[in-house]
Amino acid sequence: MTSGSGQQTELRKRRSPSSSSSSEEPRSKQAQLKKEKASQPPDQPCHSPQDSLFSSTSGYTNFWGFFNLAMLLLIVSNARVALENFIKYGILIKPFQWINALSEDPWTWPNLVMLFCSNITCILVFFTEKILAKKWIGEKIAVVWYIALISAHLTLPVLVTLWLKGNPLFASLALAIIVVEALKLVSYIHVNYWCRGALKSGEKPKNLLYPSNLTLSNFYYFMFAPTLCYELKFPRTPGRRPKFILKRLAEFLCFGILGVALCEQWVVPLVKNSMGTLKDMDIFLCIERVCKLAVPNHIIWLLFFYTIFHSSLNLLAEILRFADREFYRDFWNAETIQYFWQTWNIPVHRWCVRHVYKPFIRNGYSRLTASVAVFFISAIFHEYLVSVPLHMFRMWAFLAMLSQIPLSMLTEKILKGGRAGNIVVWLSLLVGQPMAILIYVHDYYWLHHPIEMKLNATEHLPPH
Ligand SMILES: CC(C)(COP(=O)(O)OP(=O)(O)OC[C@H]1O[C@@H](n2cnc3c(N)ncnc32)[C@H](O)[C@@H]1OP(=O)(O)O)[C@@H](O)C(=O)NCCC(=O)NCCS
Repeated sequence: MTSGSGQQTELRKRRSPSSSSSSEEPRSKQAQLKKEKASQPPDQPCHSPQDSLFSSTSGYTNFWGFFNLAMLLLIVSNARVALENFIKYGILIKPFQWINALSEDPWTWPNLVMLFCSNITCILVFFTEKILAKKWIGEKIAVVWYIALISAHLTLPVLVTLWLKGNPLFASLALAIIVVEALKLVSYIHVNYWCRGALKSGEKPKNLLYPSNLTLSNFYYFMFAPTLCYELKFPRTPGRRPKFILKRLAEFLCFGILGVALCEQWVVPLVKNSMGTLKDMDIFLCIERVCKLAVPNHIIWLLFFYTIFHSSLNLLAEILRFADREFYRDFWNAETIQYFWQTWNIPVHRWCVRHVYKPFIRNGYSRLTASVAVFFISAIFHEYLVSVPLHMFRMWAFLAMLSQIPLSMLTEKILKGGRAGNIVVWLSLLVGQPMAILIYVHDYYWLHHPIEMKLNATEHLPPH
């Protein structure tokens, strides 16, 4: 304990009321008090050497009241923004339009057809594995065939999306499923290859299920399970909890609808009003726009994080009795960028470590090279999911992912984690995401709607 806190304790002792104030208090105590009073100097001193609470030397750390105040300020300032938004625009949320978009948009159904067709790759991979298990073809031929197959699985939907010119949101969702399928197939192929390697080496490990795992039910269980990493036998729960399923389903529906409504009411007008500002490239106005978008964007991001990684993955896991529920870890406490990527999306992180990072390391590459390879692949997929639906190639998402490597070094080697590291992690999300959104939306409208953009820019709307 520091000397400051020692004095605090002393101070507390001095101010604390007497513990024996009952009527039966012994006379001797009263006499003692009288004696103490008499021994005090006549000016009755009330000062003692002590530090102010805000001085670090005071050793005082209890600021929970300020936390409450910060929360209240946050609520008040956001309530003001919500009220301003309502006064200015009224209610912009149009649930009937969502239903119309889902049922009438002619471009929605081709996405579903595309997803349905992507099943052909899955079936081809499954039967190739059967053939490989029977040793009808060699491993080298299989490698060439698989490279061609997975490449086709990823590129054909690109051609379809570019040809269709449909709704970017639906296209992005469909492409995300295509990417998930590709990652799962790579894992399936990789694990079965490891099993064949183990059998070839002559030391058949105990309880190795290969090749009896090669059944359609085992394959499709994996394709639907909330994981990207294949295992011959997944840990399973003994049963399903109906209450748990209902809770996750309710969360999924409520938070999903709330997220979309917040986008429509809060983000869309803000982004629309930013177009003129971005065209002029006034740096201060651009910063103001980014800061303004940061709050709603972050609230919606957290909401979708919870909806996807907690509600929907748990829902799926419960239905499939999939027992491993570690879909995220405490990314909010990340003191380094590296820890953030290790914790916020566990299914992708596990896939990256198992199927790219460790194989690189096993082949003698350094950890840095392995990390660069992982972030490079991740950057390609991020760009794929943004550029293709928007029909434009700008590389912003790609560069943002690659910038994670120097940022990792900054938080780990220079800041050495701690509070500063955690602040950098949050800042990179708070500022990086709205910047990316504004840049992409700006470029999208300049490319696809130049006349409206020019009109908007000449009107020079004051920033809302
Ligand atoms: C690049 C990345 C994989 C690095 O992961 P990391 O956990 O920081 O890497 P580490 O070096 O700490 O170790 C990873 C694993 O390799 C193992 N490893 C590390 N060096 C090793 C070596 N020399 N020999 C054997 N194993 C080694 C570790 O033991 C660890 O194994 P474990 O996961 O079973 O515990 C991670 O940052 C990542 O997943 N990045 C991309 C994430 C992404 O793009 N997500 C997209 C979400 S939308």
